[in-house]
Amino acid sequence: MSAIRSAYTDKLAFFGNSSPQQLLAVYGSPLYVYNENILRRSCRELQLLSAHPGFWVNYSAKANANPSLLRIIREEGCLVDAMSPGELHMNLEAGFSREQILYVCNNVSEAELQNAAEHGLLVSVDSLAQLDLYGRVNRGGNVMLRFNPGIGAGHHQKVVTAGEATKFGIAPEDLDKARALLAAHGLTLAGLNQHIGSLFMEPDGYLDAMDRLLAFAAALRPEELARLEILDFGGGFGIPYHKYGNAARLDMDALGRGIHERISAFAARTGYAGRFYVEPGRYVVAECGLLLGTVHAVKDHAGRRYVGTDLGFNTLMRPVLYNAHHDIEIYRAEDAAESGSLPQTVVGNICESGDILAEDCVLPEIAIGDILGVLDAGAYGFAMCSNYNLRLRPAEVLIMADGSHRLIRRRDNLDDLVRNVRV
Ligand code: LLP
Repeated sequence: MSAIRSAYTDKLAFFGNSSPQQLLAVYGSPLYVYNENILRRSCRELQLLSAHPGFWVNYSAKANANPSLLRIIREEGCLVDAMSPGELHMNLEAGFSREQILYVCNNVSEAELQNAAEHGLLVSVDSLAQLDLYGRVNRGGNVMLRFNPGIGAGHHQKVVTAGEATKFGIAPEDLDKARALLAAHGLTLAGLNQHIGSLFMEPDGYLDAMDRLLAFAAALRPEELARLEILDFGGGFGIPYHKYGNAARLDMDALGRGIHERISAFAARTGYAGRFYVEPGRYVVAECGLLLGTVHAVKDHAGRRYVGTDLGFNTLMRPVLYNAHHDIEIYRAEDAAESGSLPQTVVGNICESGDILAEDCVLPEIAIGDILGVLDAGAYGFAMCSNYNLRLRPAEVLIMADGSHRLIRRRDNLDDLVRNVRV
C-alpha cells in the first residue's frame, strides 16, 4: 500500500499486522474494523475521571452493542445500560450480570417494562405515565427517575435530550406528582439520572447539569436521599471528528477534576454513599472503529468530482442524518500513481441523491480501486446500519491486542434478507 492518506491510522498501527487491502480480501467490502487496544485505552481514560470509590463508567450500549466489544468493555470494569430488550439480550450475551445493567428506556410498553423487571434490573422511567405503568408491573420494587435538568447540549438538535424542546425526562416541578405515584405503587426511588445530549467538546455544560442533578438530590427529604443508590449524570462526551484538521480533544483532565470535585463534595456534604455514574457511548467506541469501503466509479458532473463507493448511507447514516463529518483516509496499491488534491464528493450506492458521505472534501485525488477508510465510525456506525435497498449489512472485524484479526460479525447474506418474509 502506498501512503496516499493514512498518517492517522499508521501512527496508531490501527490495522495491526494486516493492511486494509488484506482485510478486504479476507472479509469483503464494506467492512467495519475495530481495534482492541484503542477500545481498552478509552475505557481506561474514562475510569480515570474520578478516583471516588462510588464512581462508575456506565457504557451506553446504543453506540455499539457488538458482544465482542461489550465483553472487552466489561473486562475493563465498565457497567452497561440497555434501552431495549435487544440491547439487554446483547449485554447478557456479553456476560454482564443483572446488577451491572441499568435499563434506561422511554415510552415503552408494559410488556417491555415487565421484561426488565423480570430480569431484576433497575429501571429508569422518564415520564409520570411510565412511572405509573411501571408501578403496576413492579409494585413494591425500586425505580429510578430520569430528570430533565432544563439545559441541553449536543452536536445537532436531533440529539439534544434535555431542556425545553425534547421528549425526555421528568420536570423537577413534577416531583410531588412523582412522589404520589411512588407512594401509590409502594415504589422506592432508588436513583436519579439525566442525559443532556450527545457530543459536547467543552466540560462546562455537563458540569452545570451535574450541579442541577446534585442540587435536586440534595433537596430531597432525608429519608428519600438515604434510599438513593445511583446518581447518573448521562453521557455525551465528544470526540474530535476532524483528525486531519488537528481538532482539539475534550479536556478530560478538566472534566475529571470537575466531576471528582462535585461528587466528592456532594458525598461529604450529604453522607450519600451510593454510586455516581457517567454514561458515555461515543467516547468509549467511536475512535476504535473505522469503516472500510471500495471506490467503484469516479465521474465529473456539473463542475463536481463524484467518487462512487460501496459506502452508502445504509452503512453509515451519520453524515446524511446529522450532516456529520468523518475524516476519510485513502489506501492504494503500491503500483498506482498519486496526484494532487482537489474537492471531491464521496457518495454511496443507494438510489437517493442525498446518499453523500462527504461533500466537496479536499482530498488527494481518489481513483477507481482505491480503498477508503472512514475514521471514528465505531459509535453509531454499525448500530445504525440498515438493509435499505436490500443491501447487506457489513461484517465486523476486531484487530486484537497482538495485531491479529478476528471476525466478530459476519456480513448479512441473502438468506438473512428473506428470513422473516412469509409468502
Ligand atoms: N445515556 C442516554 C440515556 C442516552 O440516550 C445516550 C445517547 C447516551 C447515554 C450516550 O450518549 P453519547 O455518550 O454516545 O453521546 N446517533 C447519534 C447519537 C445519539 C445519542 C443517543 N443517546 C449520533 O450518531 O451522533
